[in-house]
Amino acid sequence: MSQVEELSLKKEYENLSVRREKYLEDIKKIIIDSKSSLEGNSFYVHGTLNIYSDLYNKQINLFWCGKQAVTKICEIGFNAGHSSMLLLLGNNNTSLDFTIFDIGHHAYTKPCLKYIKSEFQNINFEYIEGDSTINMPKWIKSNNKYLGKYDVVHVDGGHSEHCISNDLKNTHLLVKNGGIVIIDDTNVAHINYHVDKYISTGQYKELNILKTHGYPHRIIQKIKINQVYLNTKYSWQNDTIIFLDNGKMNAFGQGTYTQQDTYKYQANFGGRIHDLIFNDDYTKFISTRQDDNLIVKCKLIL
Ligand SMILES: C[S@@+](CC[C@H](N)C(=O)[O-])C[C@H]1O[C@@H](n2cnc3c(N)ncnc32)[C@H](O)[C@@H]1O
Repeated sequence: MSQVEELSLKKEYENLSVRREKYLEDIKKIIIDSKSSLEGNSFYVHGTLNIYSDLYNKQINLFWCGKQAVTKICEIGFNAGHSSMLLLLGNNNTSLDFTIFDIGHHAYTKPCLKYIKSEFQNINFEYIEGDSTINMPKWIKSNNKYLGKYDVVHVDGGHSEHCISNDLKNTHLLVKNGGIVIIDDTNVAHINYHVDKYISTGQYKELNILKTHGYPHRIIQKIKINQVYLNTKYSWQNDTIIFLDNGKMNAFGQGTYTQQDTYKYQANFGGRIHDLIFNDDYTKFISTRQDDNLIVKCKLIL
């Protein structure tokens, strides 16, 4: 981001300070009433209501990301709604779907969500309470029309290795080509490692908006690369196959594949050659086995 763009973004953010301060004060009252200590967020020192000025750039980044959303935002880890508020603050779209996954362990989470809903009445919120590693795959399965449709996903739920690997895997399914993923707390080594891993697949590039301090985050953008989902199961009759990196695949033992055209692949497994034709979002394909023309219809398993 150029200096001119940065200045103009910060000015826009500051022009909204009256509205923002009102939200912060109202949310603070709810937290105090709940008598619970506030978990880490985009404004305060973890466990307190003391403003953490190092988080300023993070606020601006979330504000910027929210402005990029056209139809759909997802947040894993709502907590007291501070980052949701920032994502929505500068977005002037008249209707937006906002999907939230949170385990709901904090007494203030639901009242804060009620408050955010009342302040952003044009937004269509959906709150899915429970462990995101269990609920996201379930939700995606019953809402598979939203695969690859999300403009922005904020990944800020559980921070364990299990949570981050699953949350990123599910986020990858939801985010559209060109969509943005914000991953919080990349000071945690295993979280940072997963971000590097996604970038190294070539399917994401890093967006350097403003450098973040305190509890830093990273922002990556999905690149349209027109290829199969890697490391994700596709059905194969009553079994599954997986396309790996470097043209290898797990398909009843080790196999190989090559991409021949945008949607056309050839796979060699089980000692036989298969011609695969994918649909335009790579969630389905039809396989024709070369020696006997056996046709198998396959789809991504969620
Ligand atoms: C660090 S806080 C999120 C802060 C918020 N995004 C912000 O910046 O204001 C993490 C949130 O994730 C939730 N959480 C923790 N583990 C989770 C899990 N396994 N599934 C879903 N949510 C989880 C916590 O309850 C908490 O609300």
